[in-house]
Amino acid sequence: MTEPFTTTTSGAPVASDAHALTVGADGPVVLHDHYLVEKLAQFNRERVPERVVHAKGGGAFGTFTVTGDVSAYTRAAVFQPGAETGMLARFSTVAGEHGSPDTWRDPRGFALKFYTSEGNYDLVGNNTPVFFIRDGIKFPDFIHSQKRLPGSNLRDNDMQWDFWSLSPESAHQVTWLMGSRGLPRSWREMNGYGSHTYQWINAAGERFWVKYHFVSAQGVHALSDDEAAQLAGSDADHHIRDLHEHIEAGEHPRWTLKVQVMPYEDAKSYRFNPFDLTKVWPHDDYPLVEVGVMELNRNPENYFAEIEQATFAPSNFVPGIAASPDKMLLARIFSYADAHRYRVGTNHAQLPVNAPQTHDAGHSYAKDGNMRFEFAGATTPVYAPNSRGGAHAEPARAGESSGWESDGELTRSAATLHAQDDDFGQAGTLYREVFDDAERSRFLDTITGHVGGVRDDEIRERAIGYWTNVDADLGAALRAALRADGAPVEVGEPGTASEPVRV
Ligand code: HEM
Repeated sequence: MTEPFTTTTSGAPVASDAHALTVGADGPVVLHDHYLVEKLAQFNRERVPERVVHAKGGGAFGTFTVTGDVSAYTRAAVFQPGAETGMLARFSTVAGEHGSPDTWRDPRGFALKFYTSEGNYDLVGNNTPVFFIRDGIKFPDFIHSQKRLPGSNLRDNDMQWDFWSLSPESAHQVTWLMGSRGLPRSWREMNGYGSHTYQWINAAGERFWVKYHFVSAQGVHALSDDEAAQLAGSDADHHIRDLHEHIEAGEHPRWTLKVQVMPYEDAKSYRFNPFDLTKVWPHDDYPLVEVGVMELNRNPENYFAEIEQATFAPSNFVPGIAASPDKMLLARIFSYADAHRYRVGTNHAQLPVNAPQTHDAGHSYAKDGNMRFEFAGATTPVYAPNSRGGAHAEPARAGESSGWESDGELTRSAATLHAQDDDFGQAGTLYREVFDDAERSRFLDTITGHVGGVRDDEIRERAIGYWTNVDADLGAALRAALRADGAPVEVGEPGTASEPVRV
């Protein structure tokens, strides 16, 4: 076999990969060594902007196989009995930059792309079923508070607790975060959640509200704070390595997808707002229904092309699956495709990892723009409507029966219309009834360390009040622990405990 020879990017053989062209052995480098120029210039352009959140991550390809029968709830081809669909998963941390350690305490991203026969379906979730806020207008402020100070460029407990304690709706997710879910042992050993409430529509046009749960077949396991800190120093890419090595060894991780299904009409009178992303639906009210199994079985061949440039968007729905009135979801539906046009480029959807894999998909009227290389034939119309045989929209095929009733004055509303809309109830239940004694004890240690890192007395006091609202005994224990650690805390016990919601 003949060895390949190096070429320029335009395909011509190059003279040397080791020596630049100079005037004499020690003379100046000449500008017309265009291969040297090409090599340096290409190098300077190797990076695209990292994701503004979820910058550090890794992923793999796999298959989703339907094992249950949810055809009564959705007509989506990907979820019909017996269907098998190729897919991509990307896992990530949220606040850290591209090179940050995998084991910092943070929610984990759980982003999925299903290459379905009806176009790509993306489900961009986390390893937690809830989130810190319930209105997308707060997202940039929330993220700013978790990232770095403008001056020192350091992460800062004061900023984090200032935001959280002034945003009490964060309590449920912060309780998850400071518990063991905040430090998964590996990506394989965590569950995934769609988190939002989504809408499913069946073949008869009937609508349902659903929540997705991906239950890890590997079990759910966490690292201790010490293990996580040690790994952050010794193997910052621990989770990328773990996933890659297991797939390479043929140990393919699996998750069972189960959904909770709420009849459409129930939402109007449910005891709390079922579209509030800070709440879970009790399984007693809406039990889990099995849908299928996701298996990851193929590592990417090229990290940059297939993971860094992968673009997952909550706006990528397929017929039979749609949005809900969740204000967070509606904000995300704008945000991601916009981020992709900026981060990867206008035509990011043409890249093989992002392109739909169905022959019916090539009928978009999008044209031109940076790096466009796909185009229809010269006589294919480039506008709609047309009388020249071009593609036409089909509302029925697109699932236009999706939607919900909405009417009223334009308003910026934090209205709580349901009897049990509150901020602290489910956080308290998680702490008291889901965590066991050992988890509660570790939880107190974690929040003591975290709140202990707050320098500002007023913010620290507000943080103690926040945990007192989650659970009065927890607040008192936190105050005592901080005092024992020498932190200046007031003698009083501010904060009123709210009645917990039973879930
Ligand atoms: C990534 C915005 C809430 C999960 C991103 C990105 C943006 C963004 C701009 C980067 C996208 C890219 O460059 O490819 C927002 C906004 C939110 C929000 C505006 C609130 C309104 C959430 C929630 C979840 C979530 C609630 C989970 C339930 C993710 C994940 C990624 C991500 C997993 C990484 C996707 C990947 O692996 O490429 N988000 N986000 N985000 N977000 Fe959000």
